[in-house]
Amino acid sequence: MSLQFYSDGRFKHFLSLEDVPAPALEHLLQSAQALRADAMGGTALRQLLQGKSVCNLFFENSTRTRSSFLLAAQRLGADVFTFDASTSSGKKGETDIDTLKNLEAMGVNAFVIRHSENGAVEKLAQAANPGTCVINAGDGRHQHPTQGLLDMLSIRQMKGNDFSKLKILIAGDIKHSRVARSDLNALRTLNTGEIRVCGPASLLPTDGTIEGCSRFEDFDQAIKDVDVVMMLRLQRERMEEGLVASLDSYFQDYGLTQTRLALAKRDAIVMHPGPMNRGVEIADAVADGPQSIILPQVSNGVAVRMAVLKALLA
Ligand code: CP
Repeated sequence: MSLQFYSDGRFKHFLSLEDVPAPALEHLLQSAQALRADAMGGTALRQLLQGKSVCNLFFENSTRTRSSFLLAAQRLGADVFTFDASTSSGKKGETDIDTLKNLEAMGVNAFVIRHSENGAVEKLAQAANPGTCVINAGDGRHQHPTQGLLDMLSIRQMKGNDFSKLKILIAGDIKHSRVARSDLNALRTLNTGEIRVCGPASLLPTDGTIEGCSRFEDFDQAIKDVDVVMMLRLQRERMEEGLVASLDSYFQDYGLTQTRLALAKRDAIVMHPGPMNRGVEIADAVADGPQSIILPQVSNGVAVRMAVLKALLA
């Protein structure tokens, strides 16, 4: 039995893009696009989730995901609050499941959960009562499904709905990236023409994640003639783990500069899920340049999260 879907195909939880069929993905993207005006401050939908309670249960830090879920729930009229793990009774040893069950006992209808462990959000979804919804806001290096959705919506807005003609490059630390995993799931479902992945061998996964993708270790080769460049954050601990020699050498080989971007198509767009390490994986001039859609991605995050809350709770 699927943890994510009811037998009639409706979402029970929103945990992963891995098994979301094309029609369900399409429905969420269309819904998010339609919600954009309300996402950016409209008031038409303030009644939709009236009487529902949403808890932002973040066991790991976040700026974009946490804030945009908060705004999304508010703009749909739900009661929403953020659980602060750093001052909670989790510090006294209370388990994550007990934490969820206690908040559920207060009448929470949906939990938006971020956790540092792969699969932790699924375990919490299994522990939730029937009818309580769990949304994965990023777990370990496993999945970040709402980021995947907002990335797809952002590409569609710039390049149209037909991905079969597109060459899309994901570059950087793919091995440790939950964003890359969700993006790859969605790009395959949307029938992308060519998916390229690029990074040093130490940061490219060997577990089947990049199966079917064109694999590059040379960034200048990988970026040639692509329509979309999706950059990923390099976590600084990768240097301590010896997976990259130095941040300077990483920027030299895998940093997106204006010179490198000139090798892509003239109208190529640049994406990054944030938070960015400026001067490590991306140069300021590119991050803030005319081809960057990094801030529009963030705006789309509110609409996408409204669409997901609506699909689960409305
Ligand atoms: N893209 C993303 O997940 O950002 P946050 O960690 O700030 O939520």
